[in-house]
Amino acid sequence: MALQRVWGLALLCHGVIASPLGASAAEAALAHHQEPQADAAPRRLHGRFLHITDLHPDEFYRVHSSTDEADACHRGKGPAGTYGAETSDCDTPFALVNATFDWIAANIKDDIDFIIWTGDSARHDSDEDVPRNQDQVLGTNRWIADKFAQLFADPSGRGLNIPIIPTFGNNDILPHNILLPGPNKWLQTYSDVWRKFIPEEQRHSFQFGGWFYVEVIPNKLAVFSLNTLYFFDRNAGVDDCASPSQPGYKQLDWLRVQLQFMRQRGMKAILTGHVPPARTDNKQLWGEACWQKYTLWLTQFRDVVVVGLYGHMNIDHFLIQDSHDVHLASVSGFAEAPVNTREAMEDELSAQSTADYLQELRQDWSKLDRPATTKPGGIKGEGRRGKKKKGGKKVKDPWGERYQLSLVSPSIVPNYFPTLRVLEYNISGLEHAPTWVDPFKNRQPSVIIEDQDEAQKHLDLRGLYESDTDFEADTKNKKHKKKPKKDKKPKDPTVVIPDPPAKTAPPGPGYSAQSLSLTGYTQFFANLTHINNLTIGEISDLVDGENRSDNDDSWWDWLLKWRQGKHRGKKPAHPKPNPREFQFEVEYSTFDDKIYKLKDLTVNSFVDLAYRIGRKAKGSDVSGVESENEEDEDATDAEDDDDTGSDEDELEVDKTKKKKKGKGKKDKKKKQKKQKKVNRTWRHFLDHAFVGTLEKEDLKKFS
Ligand SMILES: *[C@@H]1O[C@H](CO)[C@@H](O)[C@H](O)[C@H]1NC(C)=O
Ligand SMILES: *[C@@H]1O[C@H](CO)[C@@H](O)[C@H](O)[C@H]1NC(C)=O
Ligand SMILES: *[C@@H]1O[C@H](CO)[C@@H](O)[C@H](O)[C@H]1NC(C)=O
Ligand SMILES: *[C@@H]1O[C@H](CO)[C@@H](O)[C@H](O)[C@H]1NC(C)=O
Ligand SMILES: *[C@@H]1O[C@H](CO)[C@@H](O)[C@H](O)[C@H]1NC(C)=O
Ligand SMILES: *[C@@H]1O[C@H](CO)[C@@H](O)[C@H](O)[C@H]1NC(C)=O
Repeated sequence: MALQRVWGLALLCHGVIASPLGASAAEAALAHHQEPQADAAPRRLHGRFLHITDLHPDEFYRVHSSTDEADACHRGKGPAGTYGAETSDCDTPFALVNATFDWIAANIKDDIDFIIWTGDSARHDSDEDVPRNQDQVLGTNRWIADKFAQLFADPSGRGLNIPIIPTFGNNDILPHNILLPGPNKWLQTYSDVWRKFIPEEQRHSFQFGGWFYVEVIPNKLAVFSLNTLYFFDRNAGVDDCASPSQPGYKQLDWLRVQLQFMRQRGMKAILTGHVPPARTDNKQLWGEACWQKYTLWLTQFRDVVVVGLYGHMNIDHFLIQDSHDVHLASVSGFAEAPVNTREAMEDELSAQSTADYLQELRQDWSKLDRPATTKPGGIKGEGRRGKKKKGGKKVKDPWGERYQLSLVSPSIVPNYFPTLRVLEYNISGLEHAPTWVDPFKNRQPSVIIEDQDEAQKHLDLRGLYESDTDFEADTKNKKHKKKPKKDKKPKDPTVVIPDPPAKTAPPGPGYSAQSLSLTGYTQFFANLTHINNLTIGEISDLVDGENRSDNDDSWWDWLLKWRQGKHRGKKPAHPKPNPREFQFEVEYSTFDDKIYKLKDLTVNSFVDLAYRIGRKAKGSDVSGVESENEEDEDATDAEDDDDTGSDEDELEVDKTKKKKKGKGKKDKKKKQKKQKKVNRTWRHFLDHAFVGTLEKEDLKKFS
């Protein structure tokens, strides 16, 4: 069977995917995959890469320990499973790290072109009895780096088969979150830990700021590893990006210059980092000037940048940056900049703040207009606005170039279920492009390997803080102080605004589907509830949400700041763990997700999705006033325009729609159905956000 050699189907044949799809649906979904060529020529591109993030390996994890905050899966008796305590705040057992690498080796290793690894490869500092130390933080980081290097070693044993691009997580340093301006010992040490991944000619700049890029397809595509700790509001060791003395400012200068080079060379760039540029009406993760500049850069380099890929948040979601939020005064830190009232987001989002955060995103998205859709040969147009003025008027910003997309991938650490993402991109015209070859391959090993002990010995941080506790105290002060700095004068008011794309330049791969555009991704997850195979006994009466009521505003209080997970208060009935065979399976794929309906991963596709997620009925009053009804109808019509998926829900709505508008009961019913449908995309998004761990009933509580 010819298809057997195709990537996804090979997985099926290994019995690895317990796909909810039937075989034919799976085949259809995989039809976009290209047939591999049979020659044994040098590596060729597959149009696929792995994004893995937030591994958080924990050497103190003990199976059948307690998920209580005080125990953190390190001790006591409880329901911690062999491969991790799903839905809890415990970190990752080594067994899960091993199993993840084994799965990658068996299933995707030979089918990917590069790996994006967005940080946090150390445990959290969550156990007072065993505070983290340098050896541990660097130890697990070295371990993961070595695992990647071994798995992807080229035959010479000195180099790699494919490029791997790491980046700093806020837990990869000590105390967490605080990275002082470089050069410093952390940067120096990581330039050794990641020596196989950082191109030799960039080691110097890496030691200065922790940023670098790799030409993953030489002369075609580069992946930028941004040191987002220098943008991170929680990093008390640096200031915002407004002053030239700050490393965040310098990093953005470097990025601007590099993206300019990329443009000159006709190359495209994927930007990656740990902390995403999340920013809602009330909260943000980056310093405002950093966010402003980054967004400005991406607007000006919209012909170059494909997408931004981030981690840190553990929840599966995406962000849309709006260039209309850029104010030049804010970029340079001028006093007359609009007052920024956003608070820094909590360090580790509790479930409550996660819920709030997602609702805020939805709120923002509810203000979006549906983009004009595109098709070959012109604008199909007729967005929600266009529809009202019939007659083929020109659509403004047909490619959605006002916006930018950041994809935030969820984590290996099983705050929900462990999960990883395989993205696919268009390699049309690149079938015979020369692929990346590890330059280290031809070097003497002695040039590469440095004295690790020596580097470690000298790792004395220019630290302000003895411990995280001191740091917390300081950030609290910082928070209070955080008011508009009225007298602040910018040290350097001149902002170098990058040139926009040439007037004649076609839209970039982030905006119109072309070579190097992302075409979709498959999200894999491991169902630990199934795999851990815990037979739960001695069930105490502490059942999550037992007494929840629909009218309870704080219904998610059951998700405590420290989450004990779905088995809290329970113990395994069998003394010996008896797990099933570990495997990742497909959670969903954008290629066939009937509700997401993403025909590609361009900005417009996500603006459209965000628009649909943002749509909601005005209030829950079913017998609402007529005008609201009208608005609803309009919204539903707009969505139905390009409905391609069919499911009962939708068909029902369609039928009702065709009937003449009635009054009374029928109207009520109709409206209820519409609401159901209106919230469906939102709930589906939430289901993905929490990696399928929330029950249907729980999802409904988000309104
Ligand atoms: C993980 O794999 C390493 C070898 O890479 C092995 O030494 C270690 O014992 C394994 N740990 C677990 C918990 O399976
Ligand atoms: C891939 O890029 C080529 C060349 O730009 C384009 O013709 C084709 O439609 C793209 N394929 C997809 C699936 O977007
Ligand atoms: C995970 O496995 C459990 C136990 O087999 C099952 O009840 C649950 O539905 C599964 N969850 C998902 C998202 O597949
Ligand atoms: C639920 O309510 C019952 C009766 O009001 C109470 O006895 C029990 O402790 C409650 N359970 C939880 C988990 O709050
Ligand atoms: C699951 O656990 C039970 C009880 O420990 C054991 O009898 C069974 O063999 C396990 N299943 C698998 C597939 O290992
Ligand atoms: C849909 O969500 C809105 C708020 O976003 C809520 O008021 C309404 O009750 C929900 N409708 C249904 C049918 O759940």
